[in-house]
Amino acid sequence: MESIIITIDGASSTGKSSLAKAIAKHYGFKHIDSGAMYRALTFYAQDHNLLNDHKFNVDMLIAKLPTIDIDFTNADEIRLNGKIIDDEVRSMEVSSKVSLVAKEPLFRQFMVAKQRKFGEKGNVVMDGRDIGSVVFPNATIKFFLEASMKVRINRRYAELIEKGVQVSVEEVHANIAKRDHIDSSREDSPLIVPENAILLSNDKEGLTELLNIATTEIDKHLL
Ligand code: DC
Repeated sequence: MESIIITIDGASSTGKSSLAKAIAKHYGFKHIDSGAMYRALTFYAQDHNLLNDHKFNVDMLIAKLPTIDIDFTNADEIRLNGKIIDDEVRSMEVSSKVSLVAKEPLFRQFMVAKQRKFGEKGNVVMDGRDIGSVVFPNATIKFFLEASMKVRINRRYAELIEKGVQVSVEEVHANIAKRDHIDSSREDSPLIVPENAILLSNDKEGLTELLNIATTEIDKHLL
């Protein structure tokens, strides 16, 4: 079988990672959540006092890049300099600042190089914002996942409550709207529907139906 790269792009909380995980499991491929990588860098900046509500020391974070190792365990958990930080990267604190980190071109270059390395051996499902447009423009198959604001708020709220995070629906809504704005209006690699991407909607379909639609499309490429 040829080496396969499947990309899934879309706005936050549309369900990209759940679909990517399910596709990866179906084919025995590796799943890479590229958003978690930007979140890991944001967590690093906050943990090292380079980013808070009042300041963002971009230059210092750039200087630290050579010392920052971001990878995934075999169970797809995100690891920062050897420490698993799956829960930390999902906090509201990280969510509220990650778009500021993700809009800086140097941090994007750092991530894109890592993401291409993760994809080198193929048989990878990667989800994010610019995966089909910038990271792997020649991917085997590209999906773009959409969902209504209501569905996205409900997904994110339920995820946070399950993790024990104290948050209101209004806060979740405000955070998603703010990130949408920054992610789509930034100059470097804004969120777009990649050329040749297949559009999927998470509004009516559940994960099982979405997986069926996606695997039917992917199987056409594998045969
Ligand atoms: O998918 P997510 O919500 O975990 O992504 C977190 C942030 O990272 C999001 O605000 C945009 C950014 N991101 C990006 O700019 N490019 C990617 N490929 C993935 C995420």
